[in-house]
Amino acid sequence: MPAALQAPVPSQTFEIRRFDAPVGAEIVGLDISRPINDSDFARIHRAHLDHHVLVFRDQRVQPNDQVAFSRRFGPLEIHVLHQFQLKGHPEILIVSNIRGENGEPIGLGDAGAYWHSDISYKSEPSLGSLLHAQELPSEGGDTLFADQHLAWEALSPQLQARVLPLTAEHSYLAKYEELRAKNPWRPKLSQEQIDQVKPAVQPVVRTHPETGRKALFVSEHFTTRIVGLPQAESDALLAELFAHSVKPDFVYRHRWQPHDLVFWDNRSLMHLAAGTPDHLRRKLYRTTIKGDRPR
Ligand code: SIN
Repeated sequence: MPAALQAPVPSQTFEIRRFDAPVGAEIVGLDISRPINDSDFARIHRAHLDHHVLVFRDQRVQPNDQVAFSRRFGPLEIHVLHQFQLKGHPEILIVSNIRGENGEPIGLGDAGAYWHSDISYKSEPSLGSLLHAQELPSEGGDTLFADQHLAWEALSPQLQARVLPLTAEHSYLAKYEELRAKNPWRPKLSQEQIDQVKPAVQPVVRTHPETGRKALFVSEHFTTRIVGLPQAESDALLAELFAHSVKPDFVYRHRWQPHDLVFWDNRSLMHLAAGTPDHLRRKLYRTTIKGDRPR
């Protein structure tokens, strides 16, 4: 049918409710599996820029719906650990501590064990990521989000001036063997996988490409060194920045509810998986949106 004759997509009725926390809002009433018109999409996009993490409640949706909704924001990443892709959906990384009948893990059980921003180890890190709850533990399993704009703004003017011109190396491999020693089920990386995750150099302070706000951009998971500083000085500065960047004043703790779909902005936030007791099952599906080169 010619576009001019197609019926317009009706708006959905939904509310955006800001959390009583430094960041975050919940979206109630929207169904991401139904068509979303341009004006509803613009509201969601604006809320994402304003609140940095959005919790879409009660999304009883299929992997295809998550992939299609994620793609509205940009092309998707395929994670280097292809072992944990959802069958038939290479864009979905399974985040789970569950083991299959053969004893093999069905997903990445220790994803997010250290504070990080997704894919910061690539020259074009992620714009944002979405996690959809499939199976939740009766206790634990929270995800924490720390606002890196607030972290930047709370630095002393002296420290701001010191770190603003600096760059730092980010490496996927930095903590890989340490995690593998704790969790031997983590696959040994092939040479092809290692080649896909060459370290990247990023600004220590990045400017959000859509809002123009500055944010700290270093993480205990991936940042290995400040370029051009002696190792001891680099270690001391990074330790100071890591401790500062996740102060409680910047953090929202997400306690998962069934069917939550959580969408965060990796250009504004770092996140951390708080951990799940070993005897309890947790499974989420993650999609990761490609982003721009940080500046
Ligand atoms: C992740 O960092 O991708 C996972 C976070 C979580 O499991 O809560």
